[in-house]
Amino acid sequence: LDDLLGEGVSGRRVLVRADLNVPLDKQSGEITDDGRIRAVLPTLSALVQAGAKVVVCSHLGRPKGAPDPQFSLRPVAGRLGELLGAPVRFAEDTVGDSARSTVEGLADGQVALLENLRFNKGETSKDDAERGAFADQLAAFGDAYVDDAFGAVHRKHASVHDVPARLPHVAGRLVLREVEVLGKLTGDPERPYVVVLGGSKVSDKLAVIEALLPKVDRLLIGGGMCFTFLKAQGHEVGTSLLEKEMVETCGNLLERSGGKIMLPVDVVVADAFAPDAAHDVVPADGIPSHRLGLDIGPETVAGFAAALSQARTIFWNGPMGVFEMAAFANGTRGVAEAITKADAFSVVGGGDSAAAVRALGLDESSFGHISTGGGASLEYLEGKTLPGIAALEN
Ligand code: 3PG
Repeated sequence: LDDLLGEGVSGRRVLVRADLNVPLDKQSGEITDDGRIRAVLPTLSALVQAGAKVVVCSHLGRPKGAPDPQFSLRPVAGRLGELLGAPVRFAEDTVGDSARSTVEGLADGQVALLENLRFNKGETSKDDAERGAFADQLAAFGDAYVDDAFGAVHRKHASVHDVPARLPHVAGRLVLREVEVLGKLTGDPERPYVVVLGGSKVSDKLAVIEALLPKVDRLLIGGGMCFTFLKAQGHEVGTSLLEKEMVETCGNLLERSGGKIMLPVDVVVADAFAPDAAHDVVPADGIPSHRLGLDIGPETVAGFAAALSQARTIFWNGPMGVFEMAAFANGTRGVAEAITKADAFSVVGGGDSAAAVRALGLDESSFGHISTGGGASLEYLEGKTLPGIAALEN
């Protein structure tokens, strides 16, 4: 971004790809966590101050290539305006008449937000020509392009992968910081290096587990995915989340891990997936057949906290339990607090873990870095080539 600012952007149209994919309350439609909007402010403010005509674009949720009001970015435009301290002009479409007139009407230092990129088939199309045609339309709104959508750099989508081929392109402040911080973890992290993984599915995390195992000193596993590992250890898991087809793979990982993988020794089981369900702490090898695990237990939290207290580098992705329900939030809270107390460089990766940090009222500044990327941060740690980063480097 500094390179672009150095050239001077006053009066130039700068197209900024942001990741404004924020969680919305299902009933009220209100933004429940504006972390991703805040994260892009440094880039947007710098462009506004330099007098650019700033055209912001983003996806929200996963609409199916056509307008769908529940995924409109309109509420985000309002919040972005509040945070920037100046109204943000909202275009009712992404590349149509409304977008064109909104962009044409921008004064220097003003900001516009286009409607959801994914209301257009071309954004996510696997067909290069279809994506390219959409990228042409988007690129027409900018004299330069800034990618500050770290959460989306792992997607080979038009706005991330194809627009930079059409315009002078640079990384925004957020993308740069994310890459610098995550690069520390893929480089030569200070040891012990402890990774905590949670979340619901092992299948989503398999590649990152495979990639991280040789590099880490300890891998602590909680969240819904721990039950497939417990099953692989020969324990019954009742009606807990279980990926049957992954049990054998988890068994292999445990065998190959050389004792690095730590699993829960106790869990909180409930009668139902409900905030007021009756619940108890049971040993991990004593889950009753009719109950389901919704959090890690206190003995596990203590064990994980002890491992984390030794760490010099920590990466955490995925909640330890259903933290949205108070009865099942203690595991996530306990692990998060242990991370903040450790004398370590800590990185929180993933929309859910970042949202958990904020929802549980934890002090964000006591973590080294809270990544805005979920899948993106995991794929970065796996060492994959990320289409959005590759496009900037090209
Ligand atoms: C995310 O939430 O991880 C990013 O915004 C990417 O969203 P996606 O998984 O729908 O591509």
